[in-house]
Amino acid sequence: MSALALRKENSPVSFRPNIIELKALSKHFGKLSVLDDISFKVREKEILAILGSSGSGKSTLLNIISGLLSQDEGTVYISGKSSTSYLGWGKIVYMFQEDRLLPWRTVRDNVAFGLENSQIPKSEWPAKIREVLKLVNLEDFADFWPHQLSGGMRSRVALARSLVAEPQILLMDEPFSKLDAQTRSQLHAELLRIHQLTKMTIVFVTHDVEEAVVLADRVAVFSSRPGRIKEMVDIRMERPRQLTDMGVVRAVQDLRRKI
Ligand SMILES: Nc1ncnc2c1ncn2[C@@H]1O[C@H](COP(=O)(O)OP(=O)(O)OP(=O)(O)O)[C@@H](O)[C@H]1O
Ligand SMILES: [Mg+2]
Repeated sequence: MSALALRKENSPVSFRPNIIELKALSKHFGKLSVLDDISFKVREKEILAILGSSGSGKSTLLNIISGLLSQDEGTVYISGKSSTSYLGWGKIVYMFQEDRLLPWRTVRDNVAFGLENSQIPKSEWPAKIREVLKLVNLEDFADFWPHQLSGGMRSRVALARSLVAEPQILLMDEPFSKLDAQTRSQLHAELLRIHQLTKMTIVFVTHDVEEAVVLADRVAVFSSRPGRIKEMVDIRMERPRQLTDMGVVRAVQDLRRKI
């Protein structure tokens, strides 16, 4: 992805403008209060983890940020503008917990799906697809069908499909949770390498404390239902981070005490 490679920037996250701002979001489903007064900001290129137990409203929050679901109260600002749907204009992509690959399409055509709503002219698609498949180490698998892939490879295709239109914001809902520990940590490394090359902001949901500490600049710790932010925790350590690093071990213990 040539444009991706060119956008490499390394100024610290704390100096960057906010790209997402949530103000006092609340959501009910009937009588069930799921999110209560959620406010936070995310800076350009920041990686924010949302950590919380099952049913605490994490997916609901991503659905609202993406505009798939509307909130009852509060406002979502993306680059300072409020709107109800952001997914369509290519700025935000949303990677769901399941990979949602289309079984009747090859790897190449599954990735092409990520371009179908973009402004990118069709003549540029083949080159974009080749570049992004290279980025996720699947360049030799373009003609494979989803059923011929391992779980890790399927996740890579889903990631490639999310990245191919070069979104500014990547929302991920427990994207690697079904993978074994080794594959998951390989994908973490790949995601961080790709993130390094871009200005992309990442907001991801997890209930894996170690995943949050290895990837994130900040962790929003959710309380159980209704979801509220109990604490925002800064993770100030150089990346890549290894699970055996003392700092990582301490941060994991510290976060475990908070959830
Ligand atoms: N469309 C809906 N209609 C009614 N209730 C819903 C709907 N979507 C979610 N809920 C309820 O809202 C609560 C929060 O759901 P949500 O999926 O956001 O949780 P979560 O934190 O993502 O959980 P998990 O970690 O298990 O994925 C749950 O109690 C769920 O039953
Ligand atoms: Mg969920």
